[in-house]
Amino acid sequence: MNTHFANKVVLVTGASRGIGRAVALAFAREGAQLVLAARSIDHLAQVENEVQELGAAALSVPTDVTDPDAVAALVDAAVARFGRIDVLVNNAGIGKVGAVESEAFADNVHQTLRASLFGTIDVTQRVLPIFRRQGAGVIVNMSSVMGRKAFARFGSYAIVMHSVSAFSDSLRQEVAGSGIGVSVIYPALTATDLLREADEAEMPPPFRHMTPLSADTVARAVVAAARRRTPRVVLPRRANMLLLGEAVSPRLGDLIATALSRRRITRLLRMSSGRTYHQTIQSR
Ligand SMILES: NC(=O)c1ccc[n+]([C@@H]2O[C@H](COP(=O)([O-])OP(=O)(O)OC[C@H]3O[C@@H](n4cnc5c(N)ncnc54)[C@H](OP(=O)(O)O)[C@@H]3O)[C@@H](O)[C@H]2O)c1
Repeated sequence: MNTHFANKVVLVTGASRGIGRAVALAFAREGAQLVLAARSIDHLAQVENEVQELGAAALSVPTDVTDPDAVAALVDAAVARFGRIDVLVNNAGIGKVGAVESEAFADNVHQTLRASLFGTIDVTQRVLPIFRRQGAGVIVNMSSVMGRKAFARFGSYAIVMHSVSAFSDSLRQEVAGSGIGVSVIYPALTATDLLREADEAEMPPPFRHMTPLSADTVARAVVAAARRRTPRVVLPRRANMLLLGEAVSPRLGDLIATALSRRRITRLLRMSSGRTYHQTIQSR
């Protein structure tokens, strides 16, 4: 067993399924003690059991991160049980697919902002005084490749992921030299329930043929980023080509995004093994 996080206290939001669950299990394998937060009590209890089966202590606290009282109670419960928090993983979030001209667009932005950005801000502001007192702590925020380059029909999500990225960037500079680290993770499409309800035909065109990453791959990157305090991690590394193209010129970025909607290109770039997002999550 890797022991870097032995007996460290790791608080994971959105721990009831998907990437958050995988992150909790990955830290448990490293000997960490887990505080698990999400709304679904049953799923949370299941993850708590899985963590304990790996030999790690776990406390699950049903929490809606959009509710400030619930967030305060979560952080109080973590400190009451373990006396400290060493790593905060702000992972809870939602995502909605839809064009800018769709009726639901503004509402989608509002809902996503509340869960994925304001939830992250609130939990962070509650945990930071603890990190300041300890003179140590690591915050890992979950953004997305969409937080660096938006795709068509995913604007509401991309707006929020850009804001999570900017929040992390500001915070990292504000806490520099205090013993507190801030990492932000930018995963590409990942095989979770995030877009399970989205109509496959309505998905952003570059996602059409893309084989999603596994939640375990993202979780391993989160643990490594927390260990090394890496400021930014893009997953998979190949996605940096898109971001590089976008940095040179938005036209080039758009061109690469359009190219990614072609099966031949995604296969060539090893971003497609023939299975789409929906095929992958339905076969799980
Ligand atoms: N899947 C992808 O392609 C992908 C790619 C890049 C980044 N991400 C990011 O990764 C994070 C995790 O997403 P996922 O893919 O694992 O999706 P998921 O399977 O849908 O899981 C989302 C998690 O967030 C929790 N959550 C949602 N709203 C919440 C709220 N108001 N309060 C507390 N918990 C809340 C959910 O739990 P409850 O419903 O039980 O509350 C669940 O545990 C998100 O921030 C997402 O933006 C995902």
